[in-house]
Amino acid sequence: MFGRRSGPPLEAREPPRLTPAPVAPPPPEPGAGQAPFPSHGLAAPMVPPPRTVGGRVPTLDDEPAPPRIPTAVDSRRSDSYYETKSTIFGALIEAIDLAQLARLDAESAREEIRDIVNEIIAIKNIVMSIAEQEELLDDICNDVLGYGPLEPLLARDDIADVMVNGSGTVYIEVAGKIQKTGIRFRDNQQLLNICQRIVSQVGRRVDEASPICDARLPDGSRVNVIVPPLAIDGPALTIRKFKKDKLTLEQLVRFGTITAEGAEILKIIGRCRVNTIVSGGTGSGKTTLLNCLTRYIDEEERVITCEDAAELQLQQPHVVRLETRPPNLEGEGQVTMRDLVRNCLRMRPERIIVGEVRGPEAFDLLQAMNTGHDGSMGTLHANNPREALSRLESMITMGGFSLPSRTIREMVCASVDVVIQSARLRDGSRKITHITEVLGLEGDVIITQDLFVYDLLGEDANGRLLGRHRSTGIGRPKFWERARYFGEEQRLATALDAANAGDEV
Ligand SMILES: Nc1ncnc2c1ncn2[C@@H]1O[C@H](COP(=O)(O)OP(=O)(O)OP(=O)(O)O)[C@@H](O)[C@H]1O
Ligand SMILES: [Mg+2]
Repeated sequence: MFGRRSGPPLEAREPPRLTPAPVAPPPPEPGAGQAPFPSHGLAAPMVPPPRTVGGRVPTLDDEPAPPRIPTAVDSRRSDSYYETKSTIFGALIEAIDLAQLARLDAESAREEIRDIVNEIIAIKNIVMSIAEQEELLDDICNDVLGYGPLEPLLARDDIADVMVNGSGTVYIEVAGKIQKTGIRFRDNQQLLNICQRIVSQVGRRVDEASPICDARLPDGSRVNVIVPPLAIDGPALTIRKFKKDKLTLEQLVRFGTITAEGAEILKIIGRCRVNTIVSGGTGSGKTTLLNCLTRYIDEEERVITCEDAAELQLQQPHVVRLETRPPNLEGEGQVTMRDLVRNCLRMRPERIIVGEVRGPEAFDLLQAMNTGHDGSMGTLHANNPREALSRLESMITMGGFSLPSRTIREMVCASVDVVIQSARLRDGSRKITHITEVLGLEGDVIITQDLFVYDLLGEDANGRLLGRHRSTGIGRPKFWERARYFGEEQRLATALDAANAGDEV
């Protein structure tokens, strides 16, 4: 069969040693709570006592299982499960030709592996039910064809981050909260192999010599890998996942991240080529918000995006995506964000979008904003709009530009029109807390004006934070003229009036 090594049949080979199966116990009762592999003679129980969430046992409704992977993500498997799996895995690797298997499409490769695993189970006399066999098969296919134990996590759409701290510890972020899972890898070597497979897809390597690497998965998820000796307890892998269907402003309204009127103002900001900085803490939703704003860019505009790992997914037809490059082992060949942004200027962009501004490229982005590339955008890490503006200033100062601070502030004021602040609150919810305009410089102080803010009011009995978005009553924002130029002033006036009426979230 294709994908199978030529040679003597499986029966003829020396089988790897396996604890002989004792007399098979009676078949397991169907239904919930059934332990995987209860019947193949392995002593230890296969699932831990059910974990409780908020004082109750989680139900299937809490964590919808991904298609084709029936295993509960949090099931903690015993050492004997890994032993059995590794025995079957060893025999499988002997039996298949990996090079040929790689040439098959995913479905045929799976079928091929299924046939061989079934054969191995039969030959070695391992007693297991069809459901157990299917589960093991999923697991083995994930190892051979995909990302191993990470597969069920990657298949879930409700997970924002996967954080692997060495082979034995995997955390996930769901609904804004971090929780530990029972997932683990066979050992650090298996984890390292999976990291290697991920980064090799973007033409990179990770090993002792170059132990830090950024990459992305085919679905656009951003990946960071850091391995020993820098990561002391084994490879650390961090994956930022996005929902399969990109979030839209309408969805953010549904989640309570912003009100409908606030979203309307953001749409106008996106459309009317207002220079925008999206500011926020880590994982607060900056990139998501930037993505949402870009939906309102006119299809005819030429947009160039610069990112460290390409995460943005613009819908427009005329987009050029650029990505930075780290230096090679000899320390050569690095292409920095600054190089990209500067090069952009020679590519006749109408707008430049910088995924994350964190260094001297701030200077070039401000210059671009200020020299006819209206509607350019970028994100940065800061806790409020004022801090965002001073971060821009310090990034320029630290970048070695010997400019007086007043000149830098003048430049910031002349370039940035609006700062949108996003935050992840302590109950896990994400909110847009400010839409703030930059008005100008008075003396040495940058004057800003909030158009829209989120006030925290308290907390309910379930620990959910209560608050409301409110307009600050500004009737004519500074970008009013710009909105008029784009024929959007009526829409802006309506949105501001409705916001002034004081809707609550
Ligand atoms: N308003 C929201 N409601 C619910 N989930 C959201 C919201 N905004 C973003 N998310 C989810 O939160 C995760 C983090 O979002 P995002 O990557 O945009 O954050 P970030 O601020 O850019 O993070 P980083 O600082 O790491 O770049 C993503 O999985 C995203 O799908
Ligand atoms: Mg981001």
